[in-house]
Amino acid sequence: METKTEIEKQKEYIEKVKKINQNKKQKYSILTMGCQLNENDSEKLCGMLEEMGYEKTENQNEADLSLFNTCCVRENAEDKLFGKLGELKKIKEEKGTIIAIGGCMMQEKHITDKIKASYPYTDIIFGTHTLHRFPEDLYKAIKEKKRQEDILDIDGKIYEDLPIKRDSNIKASVTIMNGCNNFCSYCIVPYVRGRERSRQPKAIIEEVQDLAKQGYKEITLLGQNVNSYLRVEREKNIEFEEYEGVNSFATLLKAINKIEGIERIRFVSPHPKDFTDDVIDAIAECDKVCKLVHLPLQAGNTKVLKEMNRKYTKEQYLSLVEKMQKRIPNLTLSTDIIVGFPGETDEEFEDTLDVVEKVKFEQVYMFIYSRRIGTPGDKMENQIPEEQKHKRFDKLKALVESQISENNQKYIGTKQKVLVEGTSKNNEEMLTGRTDSNKVVVFEGDKSLIGNIIELEIVSEHMWYLKGVIKNG
Ligand code: 5AD
Ligand code: SF4
Repeated sequence: METKTEIEKQKEYIEKVKKINQNKKQKYSILTMGCQLNENDSEKLCGMLEEMGYEKTENQNEADLSLFNTCCVRENAEDKLFGKLGELKKIKEEKGTIIAIGGCMMQEKHITDKIKASYPYTDIIFGTHTLHRFPEDLYKAIKEKKRQEDILDIDGKIYEDLPIKRDSNIKASVTIMNGCNNFCSYCIVPYVRGRERSRQPKAIIEEVQDLAKQGYKEITLLGQNVNSYLRVEREKNIEFEEYEGVNSFATLLKAINKIEGIERIRFVSPHPKDFTDDVIDAIAECDKVCKLVHLPLQAGNTKVLKEMNRKYTKEQYLSLVEKMQKRIPNLTLSTDIIVGFPGETDEEFEDTLDVVEKVKFEQVYMFIYSRRIGTPGDKMENQIPEEQKHKRFDKLKALVESQISENNQKYIGTKQKVLVEGTSKNNEEMLTGRTDSNKVVVFEGDKSLIGNIIELEIVSEHMWYLKGVIKNG
């Protein structure tokens, strides 16, 4: 009940800001960095802002409120944020833009210290555990005309019933759990998002039911460790309420699979250790669960994996792939890989290439190792020189790209079910959609098809997309 009162309080602040903005035509811009969880958080921030009377603009310079939802997983986002803040200084002097920064980077003290010292004109700083208090922070920033700093170190509760303004009306993301308990030694996430905690099954099921009623076709379940949904609660006897048989990730997939109207279910990002047999069986059994599974490898060498604290060996990873391929017909896989983790030798890196060659992933997200302050990886002495990291990255990229065209060939002549998402960005006359395996398909068709799943025959491949034709009969 306590959480409800908090949200009610925030709704009162929403009304107060709305009153201030009456007849003022206020505009906001938002820059979201990082993962889909952040994008989902931004949809909530947009929902709150629009209820407070702000209208979205893509042009930061004309915004009355400029919002940044930050990510700190890799270094480049920091440079981007500071660059944008620098650009805003003059504009703020001219028109008094309110500058608000939230998200993962704000949970890092060295970053907030830098903002306060070098960008003191920032109005609001809020963290990952205080997103729901944005209306209150904004109201106080406007009224008190002084900087609001709203950052908590303790794990925030999960708040329900926040307003939300979704980016699409076909595909929707639903966050099912927050935080991470794995502490991979390169990763900052456990420090900025806190410990794992799951949403109640009822809240998730009702949200998806509601999305189905609104006409959404595809749902992506989100969590930093999505397939360990309710694991901590079960292991530590933390109370949760079972609803429609949901007491684990596998049972959640099964329950959502039954919701009428929803046609596709995806989930990111899982950890290989949590692909227990019940989860693998649920993916195989549930017709709506897409058979593209993200299985983050990170590195192919067992010693490097141990240093990374990934809890599996090269052989265990490969046998998990084999097991999943056997049990899930038409399985395709995507993955994340980091090159140049401290201590990784050229020879050890070859193991990464070897796994990529063997598994033939549908998609590989490649990252150059980035030192993160506060993580064990940052304290390791044997850091790899930048030049060497880049060389490895290029080698991996070349291998991955050669596999993409090879893999694309396999689609030619096949029939694929495609969820039609809209018109093509490059050609208004063409439609675009995605296969179960998340491949972009471009084709000619009537706009009334948008939002439907249709069958297409794939006729050609163009590296980053396929071309299809509508099958008659
Ligand atoms: N450096 C580079 N890549 C990283 N990732 C996480 N932390 C780092 C880091 N310090 C990558 C991992 C993860 C993805 C979301 O980002 O591959 O799966
Ligand atoms: Fe980071 Fe590892 Fe947790 Fe993923 S599982 S968020 S890589 S610590």
